[in-house]
Amino acid sequence: MTEEYPSVRMSGAQGAPRPSAFPRARLTSPAVLSGAHTDHAFDLARCLLAREFPQRWEHSQGAAAGASRLAPILGKHSEVVRAAALLHDIGYASTVSRTGFHPLDGARYLRGLGVDQRVVSLVAHHTFALLEAELRELREPLEGEFELPPQELQDAMVYCDMTSALNGQLTTSRVRTAEILIRYGTESIVGRFITRAEPLIHAAVARVVDRLDRAGESV
Ligand SMILES: [Fe+2]
Repeated sequence: MTEEYPSVRMSGAQGAPRPSAFPRARLTSPAVLSGAHTDHAFDLARCLLAREFPQRWEHSQGAAAGASRLAPILGKHSEVVRAAALLHDIGYASTVSRTGFHPLDGARYLRGLGVDQRVVSLVAHHTFALLEAELRELREPLEGEFELPPQELQDAMVYCDMTSALNGQLTTSRVRTAEILIRYGTESIVGRFITRAEPLIHAAVARVVDRLDRAGESV
């Protein structure tokens, strides 16, 4: 599926070069967003979120910090998870939003840029997105278009997302889910999703913390 999006202009982003579009050509290499290329993920996420959704940008940077903490157990996947953590909420940006379901919109946008499919699938399926997709009657496109990442990487994304507070500070998944429930309300789609996903979220974070403990790393 080909999606048409307006160019992401960097002129509105704090500290970004102007006036130029995001360097699309540099995102088409198979190696994109691996290794040093996470710099591109940072720039893209900043362009899309920093001005329109400053809190989500803070949260996304906190999620990326979470990925850095997981580097000892993620090994070669570390940079991919860090890039996905930076980009996981870009679907909220008005430039990107189409269906109103941010994991699907963000993943489609990144796919359109030719971003590494491992990053794209982590964004598509971050934090049990399939459960929320079901409530939004969008499970079929999400599942059909984007392959589920390996369990360990899904867990890592849950950890990154759910231990980063809205302001990007380190928090616990229990505090985070409680905050989301208060912010959205238990009867909202997000509230119903969180209520359903909560045990899975805490279990995923516990698995990651356990892996860190076994690796001799503490958080
Ligand atoms: Fe998030």
